[in-house]
Amino acid sequence: MEYSEVIKNARTNIGPYCKACNVCNGIVCKNTMPGPGAKGTGDLAVRNYAKWQEVRINMDTICEQRTVETKFELFGKTFEYPFFAGPVGAVKLHYGDKYSDQEYNDILVPACAKSGIAAFTGDGTNYQVMIEATEAISKFDGMGIPTVKPWDLGTIKEKMELVKKSGAFAVAMDIDAAGLPFLQNLNPPAGSKSVEELKEIVKMAEIPFLLKGIMTPKAALKAKEAGVQGIVVSNHGGRVLDQCPSTAEVLPAIVKAVGGEMKIFVDGGIRTGIDVFKALALGADAVLIARPFVTAVYGGQEEGVASYVQKIGAELKDTMAMCGAFSLKEIQDDMIWK
Ligand SMILES: Cc1cc2nc3c(=O)[nH]c(=O)nc-3n(C[C@H](O)[C@H](O)[C@H](O)COP(=O)(O)O)c2cc1C
Repeated sequence: MEYSEVIKNARTNIGPYCKACNVCNGIVCKNTMPGPGAKGTGDLAVRNYAKWQEVRINMDTICEQRTVETKFELFGKTFEYPFFAGPVGAVKLHYGDKYSDQEYNDILVPACAKSGIAAFTGDGTNYQVMIEATEAISKFDGMGIPTVKPWDLGTIKEKMELVKKSGAFAVAMDIDAAGLPFLQNLNPPAGSKSVEELKEIVKMAEIPFLLKGIMTPKAALKAKEAGVQGIVVSNHGGRVLDQCPSTAEVLPAIVKAVGGEMKIFVDGGIRTGIDVFKALALGADAVLIARPFVTAVYGGQEEGVASYVQKIGAELKDTMAMCGAFSLKEIQDDMIWK
């Protein structure tokens, strides 16, 4: 299935807010929440995408020709590529009635695993969202990363039990989620966590723990102090606080602060294999891509996901070859023009 066909199909069934644009750049959906947009003016999703486009590639083909290898190691598992499907929860609320979270994850999780990557799954105010996400992961040998919201410690403990039962190989927490408009003033409450509380949560997890929603070197250092195995440099696609910088803008300083000491993922507006290359050249170990995987599921189910992964993988390999990087380790910051 061609990716253009996937996008075209998605337009027929993806609900009222997402328009399944050719380029998912945050402009048309701007501030639709519910929906896939961003908070406030909605300009941060647009900025996330735009700032990757300002980073350009330094092509250099004077080198020995070798086979391009994109394999990526994470917590004892080997993946085909250094990109993953990012967590998206409550799909009915944001993308209309076509899929429940269970149906969405039952397509996404195996489709990613079959394409050699893994899916992060989302969480929601409805308790059922995490139950269904972890069930999808357990059906597929634990090949997924559930992402738990920063609820009160009692609720986190209950959700961690679901995570452990699923056999997931790692778990994440979107520590920035309290900024989501539909998560405010709720019971159970969600909100900030101190380093001490995070230490407790990391211990509760018992499996590798990633903290998602890191936007400053200071926060990255606190995450390190809490003992996490990795961070996701993310502003939640602009959905938790308007007027933050883009992730491409803050990534280099965060890499300088904690690079090499933990895994660094980044997300927000990464749309092509060329963008993946740029993120790795700026020092990320791997990336998450969230909204376009939703379009891929709505537009072609498992085949749509396979088509999107194949497209991004091919673009990444092409870019690596054109810059003389034949393995992920060979991608260097002098291969981009800033
Ligand atoms: C509709 C929607 C739901 C989301 N749900 C979650 C979630 O449950 N947990 C989470 O950590 N991030 C969630 N995110 C944020 C994404 O994982 C990601 O950080 C953000 O969209 C930026 O990546 P992108 O530009 O590739 O979409 C959601 C994003 C959208 C658009």
